[in-house]
Amino acid sequence: MTTEQTIDTLFLEERRYPPSAEFAAQANATSAIYEEDFESFWARNASERVSWFEPFSTLYEWEPPYTKWFLGGKLNVSYNCVDRHVEHGRGAKVAFHWEGEPDGDLRAITYEDLQHEVVAFANTLKELGVEKGTPVAIYMGMVPELPIAMLACTRLGAPHTVVFGGFSADSLSDRMNDMGCEVLVTQDEAWRRGTTVPLKRIADDAMSDAPGVKTCIVVRRTGNDVPMAEGRDHWYHDVRGSDDPASCPPEPMDAEDLLFLMYTSGTTAKPKGIAHTTGGYLVGAAATHYYVFDLKPDADVYWCAADVGWITGHSYIVYGPLCNGATSVMYEGTPDYPDKDRWWSIIERYGVTILYTAPTAIRSHMKWGPEHAAKHDLTSLRLLGSVGEPINPEAWVWYHENIGGERCPIVDTWWQTETGMILITPLPGVTTTKPGSATQPFPGVDAAVFSESGDEVGPGGGGYLVLKRPWPAMLRGIFGDDARYRETYWSKYDGVYFAGDGARVDEDGDFWLLGRVDDVMNVSGHRISTIEVESALVDHPEVAEAAVAARNDATTGQAIVAFVTLKGGADGSVAKLEELRNHVAQKIGPIAKPANIVFTPELPKTRSGKIMRRLLRDVAENRPLGDTTTLADPTVVEEIRDRGQAEAGKED
Ligand code: PRX
Repeated sequence: MTTEQTIDTLFLEERRYPPSAEFAAQANATSAIYEEDFESFWARNASERVSWFEPFSTLYEWEPPYTKWFLGGKLNVSYNCVDRHVEHGRGAKVAFHWEGEPDGDLRAITYEDLQHEVVAFANTLKELGVEKGTPVAIYMGMVPELPIAMLACTRLGAPHTVVFGGFSADSLSDRMNDMGCEVLVTQDEAWRRGTTVPLKRIADDAMSDAPGVKTCIVVRRTGNDVPMAEGRDHWYHDVRGSDDPASCPPEPMDAEDLLFLMYTSGTTAKPKGIAHTTGGYLVGAAATHYYVFDLKPDADVYWCAADVGWITGHSYIVYGPLCNGATSVMYEGTPDYPDKDRWWSIIERYGVTILYTAPTAIRSHMKWGPEHAAKHDLTSLRLLGSVGEPINPEAWVWYHENIGGERCPIVDTWWQTETGMILITPLPGVTTTKPGSATQPFPGVDAAVFSESGDEVGPGGGGYLVLKRPWPAMLRGIFGDDARYRETYWSKYDGVYFAGDGARVDEDGDFWLLGRVDDVMNVSGHRISTIEVESALVDHPEVAEAAVAARNDATTGQAIVAFVTLKGGADGSVAKLEELRNHVAQKIGPIAKPANIVFTPELPKTRSGKIMRRLLRDVAENRPLGDTTTLADPTVVEEIRDRGQAEAGKED
């Protein structure tokens, strides 16, 4: 082992939050599960969390870069997520408390209801020609028919791809063409902030570029008129099939049969179809959901506030929670409609006990102020989670104090579309948490930090996050593109999965995620991660959000440009700018001091809420903007560019 390191680490966070004795006493996990042998851990979880029609004969096979799990096993995902709970007498238990965006639009869906709905949808698909292996695209908002359609596909053994309802017609047609979809499920329109999104019209544009799609099923949501193509398009309520479970038994599937593709963007314009299979994915999603969220199926009301159109929604709204028989909340709308306390009123109304969300949402709530949460009784909460980006320590502490009432453990969970399940995370009741650290690899997961040359970096050092051993929910490749799969994840180090993230391990063996390695900045020969400078800025009491990017600099190679949103949307003065630069210098050292700071009311984010630093680099360099199609609000970046030019004069 050498101490060679690839990313300098400067930020020191010393706050510690050990688990309370009360939480530990009732927790699903104890420290003993870290001692369990990797193979017995996964074999035990496969039998405890999932029901098999035929047991598997081999736990796993590993021929890098491809893995297979639970070989010989047969199972069905919809049976595991729905039918077996009804068979075990839990049919009257609520699976989803669904809340639409318009006031009073509520549905409580029990497991028995869900069984009927899934069977009816599966029969509909079957009558319209879907069989085992037929690829189905789903383009919907957060309505109950979205998980219902997904489960109906799994019942028949038809692989699905869900395309997030905020994506464009081109994104939808690209994905349908890549997967070879023959059927599309969509809805008339979706509700969003009091207006409607014309999903069917967008789907029509997409279908005109995806001639392989012969059938479109349209679920009625808003009830407004939409064009229907004779022969191709069918209203779901007109073609709804029998809901008698006996009429549509779940298809026994091989553990390694394709379950779904989830497309994710890469460095080129063509999205990658990340392939997940049946057995390994379900075991991985269910086991992590059970331990990481300490799920008590009979007592908890669990809410993952992501969109089902992302991997977080697949694993932790649909498959993990339903496999575990959880009661979940599913919410259609945005957090600030009709008001900024919408989330907190939902938590109060349903007595939510577990909340899982993203740092971007937490920072928005911080910006809006704690008074919105303070209006509601949030004492039902007992556990909080975070996912999607590194969480700045100040946002973590804000979440802990203002939402968790200082009593709820926070699980900062690191994972990816490709990993299918959470891989690095605290276990509540076991792990002492540190704001900003995702702490430990999940039991059975072997993670490390490597230097550029492939040596393991010692405690305190920064480098590249890798995984040294396969895990059940690992991607089985990029659909139809073996070469790209090998190149993206397996070419940097031999036989080791390269995640594309920077990380450091501290003296306790805890992992600190440092952001995408493409975003690392090089100032006077020091490789500095974006997240550390951003966290130093967010540490200032007046800063709500910050993003940094590098521009070329004649003296230092690169110089740091910071984009800062102040709390309450205040405008920044020249004095404030100096104060923030000095704050960073004091917090992590003069080397990380931003050369200039641009104050902005919003930061450019992807539709899943991640800050798009690539565009900020273009702004910092005064270059034409790169691809902006995945931005949630493309106007934000123009505004920042204008402000950046105005600020340029103030630079020193
Ligand atoms: O950079 C990491 C960041 O999100 C990336 C994966 O994004 P995606 O495939 O969209 O999946 C998001 C939901 C799992 C990672 O490579 N990321 C995700 N969670 C964390 C994180 N970075 C730091 N800490 C996290 N907890």
